[in-house]
Amino acid sequence: MSIPAGSIGRVVIAADDLAARVAEIGAQVTEDYRGRQPLLVGVLKGAFVFMSDLARSIDLPVEIDFMAVSSYGSGTSSSGVVRIVKDLETDIEGRDVILVEDIVDSGLTLKYLTQVLGDRRPASLEICALLVREGAEDGGAKYFGFPIPPDFVVGYGLDVAEHYRELDAIHVFEPA
Ligand code: IMP
Ligand code: MG
Repeated sequence: MSIPAGSIGRVVIAADDLAARVAEIGAQVTEDYRGRQPLLVGVLKGAFVFMSDLARSIDLPVEIDFMAVSSYGSGTSSSGVVRIVKDLETDIEGRDVILVEDIVDSGLTLKYLTQVLGDRRPASLEICALLVREGAEDGGAKYFGFPIPPDFVVGYGLDVAEHYRELDAIHVFEPA
């Protein structure tokens, strides 16, 4: 895929701020789930970097699994459609599930996923989102990292048309 027209703009969240906040969330999860073995469910692809740092900041024997949903096309606005592209391999009945999302924007993806996963009778289901769009509902997230301004952002797992996920900070993407 060709690189989308536009450029990488200012840093919105620096790498060390991300690291510090993820460590705090990990410590909180460790405290809240003491004596249990939570299953982290990452929403691909955007959550993969956050999920990897989060898993290593939780001082418990976590398990991990992933789901992939499609809610956005390759542009920067929602198609309004959510569908499961890859389902879990784990049976979550009776499990303590933490759904790990990169960003809550409209909240549509999380609303759909909490319903789908809730129907599978987990012992508990919480949401951990790295970013929550300012002014948007938090989608019921128990854990979240940072509020984020309306600008479209990339980096630390987030993409525009599959690009820039590898950046270690979160940047504004400025369309041409
Ligand atoms: P929602 O269903 O509107 O909450 O959208 C959630 C999904 O949209 C996220 O998991 C991201 O993949 C994508 N998304 C929303 N805003 C951004 C952004 O600023 N940058 C990159 N991806 C975004
Ligand atoms: Mg995306």
